[in-house]
Amino acid sequence: MRKIAIMVLAVILLGLLGGCAGKPADPENRAIVVGFSQLGAESSWRMANTKSVEAAAKQYGFGLMMENANQKQEKQIDAIRSFIAYRVDVIVFSPIVETGWDNVLNEAKQANIPVILVDRMIESENADSLYTAIVGADFYAEGRRAGEYLIRKADAEKMDHVRIAEISGTPDSTPMRDRQRGFQDAIREDSRFEIIDSISGDFLRSKGEECMTYLLEKYGKDGIDVIYSHNDSMTLGVLDILEKNGIRPAKDIILITVDGEKEAVEALKAGRINCVVQCSPDLGDEVMKLVQDLKAGKEIPRVTHPDEGAFSDLDDLTDPRVEGF
Ligand code: AHR
Repeated sequence: MRKIAIMVLAVILLGLLGGCAGKPADPENRAIVVGFSQLGAESSWRMANTKSVEAAAKQYGFGLMMENANQKQEKQIDAIRSFIAYRVDVIVFSPIVETGWDNVLNEAKQANIPVILVDRMIESENADSLYTAIVGADFYAEGRRAGEYLIRKADAEKMDHVRIAEISGTPDSTPMRDRQRGFQDAIREDSRFEIIDSISGDFLRSKGEECMTYLLEKYGKDGIDVIYSHNDSMTLGVLDILEKNGIRPAKDIILITVDGEKEAVEALKAGRINCVVQCSPDLGDEVMKLVQDLKAGKEIPRVTHPDEGAFSDLDDLTDPRVEGF
């Protein structure tokens, strides 16, 4: 009860402050309250994503109740329940894993509170009836882009047997599943490629270091040709370990990463990473636009993907569009 009272106060304050920065907030939006359950703070991507949602809510003049679950599904479920108890207008949430949401989302449905997924998907027999829209990257396409780059690289380097170790993200999360599937599908028909291992680094830099240490112990530095890492945080951990062991990243071992944060793009430009597949964290504006349209009774698109691409050592890295977030 105390927690809800604090949240209510916070929402009132946010509503009052809403119009203070940037474009003046729309006074018509003052009454709209969005409950946002963020899954954690595991990466620079996630922090940029949180900022994007907060900034957009402010810009639109919405009250925002935000709860960060620190990578715990139970905490996200609790947060959604508190949003239902408070009767927010719309629930926005980024599910840490795909399964296990049926009960709480059915409760939101019974309370007539629409749910907009941001960043990640849910899996359920009734998924279609449990959320109204999703705004997030096409992770399958990202995985394919990583695989397509590798095919070009193997051609350019005339490689005939390519041993790949995959460091994947949080098990059963959408980006982990789809980046893996997209990558595998892209290289499947090409007999040069062999995925020798796949281990999870949970999207964390510290675990990226642990994974690379383990892989070096298991295969030695000459036993791996490519690291395909599902995010930049883990890749930056991999870089630290490679360099500590006298291995030249991007030269002795090909490094492919996903996200496009500044530090990774700088490492690409400095020749320490081979390919950065973009994943945009900047989803807040689109989410709040959907909230506004939904509350105005307009039809909203079910799926919205941001525009994304990839940067690599096979492209012109002096192009001003090659920049990180
Ligand atoms: O769901 C998006 C992924 O989650 C990003 O690639 C990763 O950095 C984050 O933690």
